[in-house]
Amino acid sequence: MQRDKLNMDRRDLAKAAFLGAAMAALPAMSRAQAASADENLVFTADDPGHWGDAVKAKHVPVATVSGSTLTVTTPHVMTPAHYIVSHSVVLAGGQYLGRRTFTPADMPTSTYTLPDGYKGKVTVTSTCNLHDFWVSSLTV
Ligand SMILES: [Fe+2]
Repeated sequence: MQRDKLNMDRRDLAKAAFLGAAMAALPAMSRAQAASADENLVFTADDPGHWGDAVKAKHVPVATVSGSTLTVTTPHVMTPAHYIVSHSVVLAGGQYLGRRTFTPADMPTSTYTLPDGYKGKVTVTSTCNLHDFWVSSLTV
């Protein structure tokens, strides 16, 4: 009887230790899942993913602001086999500003008018027909 009680206590202790370790690991697992949610889906200068630095140099959209005009350019070739398909612009809070699509005959440059007096984050995207979806941002 005493032996059964001792074995039960050991099992309870093992269960508690396992559950404690599992609970401690949960935040780390959640962070890992959050960090990988966009991995190899959305590419940036800091995270070119599986494409690497050579591809990054020609795909990260470059945004500049002069007055209320936002200009987005992608330093990329434009050939029928390989070209920039589109740019998109989103402002702070997810406010959609615009989108421009391109054909291989176009230059991958687009312009947009910012709302009067706009101050905040501007996120721009560039999509390549071969090299996926690239994002950069600036604050005006
Ligand atoms: Fe490309």
